[in-house]
Amino acid sequence: MRRPLVAGNWKMNGSRAAIKALLDGIGQGIGSVTRAEVVVCAPYIYLPDVAAQLAGSPIAWGAQNLSTEASGAFTGEIAASMLLDFQCRYVIVGHSERRALYGESDAVVAKKFAVARAAGLVPILCVGETLDERERGVTEQVVARQLQAVIDLEGVAALADGVIAYEPVWAIGTGKTASPEQAQEVHAFIRRSLAAADAAVADKVQILYGGSMNAANAESLLAQADIDGGLIGGASLKAEDFLTICRAAN
Ligand code: 13P
Repeated sequence: MRRPLVAGNWKMNGSRAAIKALLDGIGQGIGSVTRAEVVVCAPYIYLPDVAAQLAGSPIAWGAQNLSTEASGAFTGEIAASMLLDFQCRYVIVGHSERRALYGESDAVVAKKFAVARAAGLVPILCVGETLDERERGVTEQVVARQLQAVIDLEGVAALADGVIAYEPVWAIGTGKTASPEQAQEVHAFIRRSLAAADAAVADKVQILYGGSMNAANAESLLAQADIDGGLIGGASLKAEDFLTICRAAN
């Protein structure tokens, strides 16, 4: 039985004060979350604050990106070892914003997955199609290609050390959620494809849905057989909404 996982991706939002207040709010309600593992992915610079505030709590934390490199002359980059210094357990790799706005290729994303995994971090690997790709009917090919880059580099068993997040690009920040059926269809495709290579991996790996998931639609999405949790953007910035989503996984 896969444990549900609900992760907040704060993206480039917040301030020291706002994040403290948000975590206070989540902390106050976390007792009502009985099943899901809860994670928050903070902007790098707030990780020391987040680590200090969440130490000893059931809430895990992580980063939104990491370098492909271990150390050295890479101005502006953050290495896996630095994330471990602040007790990160998770790191998002291959978010569609990084793919689209910062030119991260499938190969770069696969390297980030590998580096995170080698360091003992749990990579949350984001995959998903654009609206144009969906309309052209190539959703499955796109998602398969994005997964294959990691499989080619690390082998299919490596995916069991990470988490997959299916995030249709057209649903991110648009308020236009995939219907539970649309999401389940792609999640089932992902699990089926992995099962063809390794049934144990397919059975173990958590596949999260992301894209305008909110307090109102979380329950119907999380009720789908192959949706094991959520990667939440906007709604993770409001403690009550985020907690409602976490509770929907109870
Ligand atoms: P929204 O929940 O704001 O649509 O963002 C989803 C997302 O990109 C999470 O990584």
